[in-house]
Amino acid sequence: MRGIFYARTGDVFARECLRHMWLQNSYPRPLSQTSKLCFGRRKRMDNRNVRPEDMERITTPALAKAFIEDQIAYIKEQVGDKKVLLALSGGVDSSVVAAMLIKAIGDQLVCVHVNHGLLRKGEPEQVIKVFREELGANLIYVDAVDRFLDKLAGVTDPEEKRHIIGSEFIEVFAEEARKLDGIEFLAQGTIWPDILESEAGIKAHHNAGGLPEDLKFELVEPVRILFKDEVRIVGKELGLPDNMVYRQPFPGPGLGVRCPGAITRDRLEAVRESDAILREEFAKNGLEGKVWQYFTVVPDFKSTGVTDGKRTFNWPCIIRAINTTDVMEVTVEHLPAELIDHLVNRITTEVAGINRVLIDYTPKPPATVEYE
Ligand code: XMP
Repeated sequence: MRGIFYARTGDVFARECLRHMWLQNSYPRPLSQTSKLCFGRRKRMDNRNVRPEDMERITTPALAKAFIEDQIAYIKEQVGDKKVLLALSGGVDSSVVAAMLIKAIGDQLVCVHVNHGLLRKGEPEQVIKVFREELGANLIYVDAVDRFLDKLAGVTDPEEKRHIIGSEFIEVFAEEARKLDGIEFLAQGTIWPDILESEAGIKAHHNAGGLPEDLKFELVEPVRILFKDEVRIVGKELGLPDNMVYRQPFPGPGLGVRCPGAITRDRLEAVRESDAILREEFAKNGLEGKVWQYFTVVPDFKSTGVTDGKRTFNWPCIIRAINTTDVMEVTVEHLPAELIDHLVNRITTEVAGINRVLIDYTPKPPATVEYE
């Protein structure tokens, strides 16, 4: 949920700082960059809202296991026999929180997964498979695709698109919450950088996810004192799959920012399908986990092409693959020529509406990573 609620501000510096802070802590860093702190034992973690200064960085399965055991005991104490609600996006933080709570309180946890239609191919299915089928979660799946896409129809302004996605999400989640009886707690995937950023005045902390006044819940935040790299290790220890725990960054407004201008269902589908091909080929060619972020964009213009001797008038698909440490400055990954040829072939033959593939070789600055 986190990403959705920060809007891009008009002030470029503020925007960059915000993004910098957000992403600096949101991607696995080499262990050499992590500080060695001592993991605080129970008695030292009485104030659970604050990371103990001497807490050891969680870098091993054993440390993750100790943290999980400690948190589970605390969650049981905090929640008792009451019910907890969680917006489960399938992102790293909410997935780890869900897995932890399922272990602690089983079906007292109610997860709500909202499919807003801007997720990547296979994501909603994976959430259902992992959480409902494998972990036995009490999961409510909300198909809100039409609702979001209808609201977004014809909207070209990037900020307005972001706003619609964020506010509609809260609306859908609140509606689901009101249907449920006996919920007293709201679980959130707040992590320690969120707290540091809100203390530094960089980002307003989205406590209670901006829910309306009539929905008042006590918060359960089991990964609140962890950095992102620690959340991933804890997630792995909880048995979550690697492609959920080590995901590349994905913006809150999802594929919506990769379908520039007014989103149409056919162009969105072309983004989703080409992104799936790119991810599949990166995984096959050992680039997954090596390249920082990679995706496709389908802009809103058409050009002439030819297929089977017939004239076509279709969109181009842009490939973007970048590396960075802080997202303030970004370099471009130069892909092997054979892979480019293969991608061009697959995307133009398999994705409806695409007759041309372009590669974006622009660093940041002058370009940003996303197109909107
Ligand atoms: P830009 O495009 O500003 O992106 O160079 C830098 C990084 O931030 C991600 N990004 C977002 N993440 N909500 C998010 O949660 C957003 O609105 C958003 N916009 C950009 C982008 O994917 C990249 O990793």
